[in-house]
Amino acid sequence: MASSSTSGWDRVWAGAHLATLAGAAQDYGVVENGAVAVRDGRIAWIGTAAEARSLAAERCAPVEEVGGLWLTPGLIDCHTHLVHAGSRVAEFEQRLNGASYEQIARAGGGIRSTVTATRAAGTADLLRGAAERARRLCAEGVTTLEVKSGYGLDLATERRLLEAARLLETQVPVSVRTTFLGLHALPEERRHDRDGFVAEVCGPWLESLAAAGLIDAVDAFCEHIAFTAAETARLLGAARALGIPAHVHAGQLSDLGAAEVAARFGALSADHLEYVSEAGAAAMAASGTVAVLLPCAYYTLRQTAPPPVPLLRRAGVPLAVATDCNPGTSPCVSLLLALNMACTLFGLTPLEALTGATRHAARALGLAHDRGTLEPGKRADFALWRVERPAELCYGLGANPCVGVVRGGEPIAATQQSP
Ligand code: NIG
Ligand code: FE
Repeated sequence: MASSSTSGWDRVWAGAHLATLAGAAQDYGVVENGAVAVRDGRIAWIGTAAEARSLAAERCAPVEEVGGLWLTPGLIDCHTHLVHAGSRVAEFEQRLNGASYEQIARAGGGIRSTVTATRAAGTADLLRGAAERARRLCAEGVTTLEVKSGYGLDLATERRLLEAARLLETQVPVSVRTTFLGLHALPEERRHDRDGFVAEVCGPWLESLAAAGLIDAVDAFCEHIAFTAAETARLLGAARALGIPAHVHAGQLSDLGAAEVAARFGALSADHLEYVSEAGAAAMAASGTVAVLLPCAYYTLRQTAPPPVPLLRRAGVPLAVATDCNPGTSPCVSLLLALNMACTLFGLTPLEALTGATRHAARALGLAHDRGTLEPGKRADFALWRVERPAELCYGLGANPCVGVVRGGEPIAATQQSP
């Protein structure tokens, strides 16, 4: 496990038990009484605390003693809709009075109501709201998060959402990956121009947002209340031609074959997957597409048929877990709560859930080479936890055992995280 860099270290964290999430899939990759040395924002060395202390003395590197804590990779929330305005509490109440998510959407509510609020909001307000949500996530050890657009649905507002998502990095100590969710809902004003809308999203909008450097990936909501498998394929094909990877909102309410489309285009991830066939799971396994499970949306919509986790496991699909933070289906700003629900509602083991918010979440964002595990050469993003064992990160409800976050080798002050 120990690995040395040739020159000096900037700093060492010593004495914590490490859960590296690196080695075999069957364990947490534990190093008891371990240490992590960082240099130039990257992990330079991992090994035991005893060895680290003597090497640090030789190299005159400062040592932070963190005995009694656990140290994991920084958590990664790989599916959020953080940038939006307005609340959908009225719809929450409507659903509890008997209306379904689909009925509300078909009546012009749902995503479209957030689009109306978001279009009317100023960029500063959008950024302020997103930053507040991001700080809550970061206070629980999140160091990287993905942010989707999709509540603008006209080019100018989609651009503003993606710009706000990029600006988040200047407000909150977190790395942001942006996703152009161009096919989220058909906007009201394009109700009679579906084909024209899809053509614009897949053509000029995608090209101009990509040229502006605002997009790390694309996404489509493939669902009977949103876009078809063919429309989804069109966006993924256009993105592929530009060298842009994809995610797909797949099988949230029904199986339209979205997992197969995601796999066909080598998408990084297919997300939700309450409804996915054996063929869809096999296709995802073959293409290396990660299944991003979103238990807080499942919970909020009071769904009763969970994703077929045993089928996904058997097929060998990597599982990730994310918050899906959005005002409609998942007003959730706690990745630890998502981990808990992934275990209690979907039957993931705590090891699967934690791997899903680190190693596999990094893979779902195309960042597996750079982060998601504690390994020499990877970004020095990690979180310190006052827990008895790693499974405790999935155990609490509303507990936050995070006592420290290090990002790019720099400790984050608690004040930078408070919302
Ligand atoms: O991931 N399913 C589509 N998109 C979001 C919900 C968006 C909304 O209802 O505002 C989701 O659940
Ligand atoms: Fe979503």
